[in-house]
Amino acid sequence: MTDAPEPGGYFPRDRGWHPPALSPAYKTTVKRAPSFAPLSFPTSLGEETGPVFGHETLGPLDGDLIHNFAGLENPAIGPRIVVHGRVLDESARPVPGALIEIWQANAGGRYRHRNESYLAPLDPHFGGCGRVVSREDGSYEFRTVMPGPYPWPNGMNDWRPAHIHLSIFGPAFAQRLVTQMYFEGDPLIWLCPIVGAIPSRAAIESLIAPVDSARNIPMDARAYKFDIVLRGRRQTMFENRKEGM
Ligand SMILES: [Fe+2]
Repeated sequence: MTDAPEPGGYFPRDRGWHPPALSPAYKTTVKRAPSFAPLSFPTSLGEETGPVFGHETLGPLDGDLIHNFAGLENPAIGPRIVVHGRVLDESARPVPGALIEIWQANAGGRYRHRNESYLAPLDPHFGGCGRVVSREDGSYEFRTVMPGPYPWPNGMNDWRPAHIHLSIFGPAFAQRLVTQMYFEGDPLIWLCPIVGAIPSRAAIESLIAPVDSARNIPMDARAYKFDIVLRGRRQTMFENRKEGM
């Protein structure tokens, strides 16, 4: 993905970029996919202009998932990584002030969640959530541990590739986009039925963060780069907001 600016103009959201609601190999979509044509509701002024909670209230460790659950003396277990990139609009202009919320499984592939049933152990030092706000140049960065793959009861032999979930909030509640980031070189990406529901290889590749060795922290953490493009030809594939704003 390049950062080269595109000519100006309006870039309508490309509905074909998103996976269809009904993707039978991803079994839960069979029950979740709508049976009727969607109804359209206009958004309210408050939804479009209201401030989003959380932009101004970040704690010093919110972007450090290695330490934000159990403190600086009790780092999370697992391969230490940095994820960084920029939030960009359809013309590759930086988007400052976007709230990026992150959640993920621990290094063993287990979520800290009451509905989690995978037998991999919890890490007492890892909560799995964090958040950052993009800077003036659109850049963001967080530290975490590499999440592990985990099995899920789809075909009884399906494994999710290592991934981090991200939610991106603009300045209003209705401007929320949700996606997942994968890691370069993971063979499980191309075997995953959720990834397979995405019709375009280019859309899938927009979700795979390459290794960025130049940003490694020596003797500490490896780096991955993940640019989040909100719209346009290089748009990141978001799993919600097919209707888009
Ligand atoms: Fe997940």
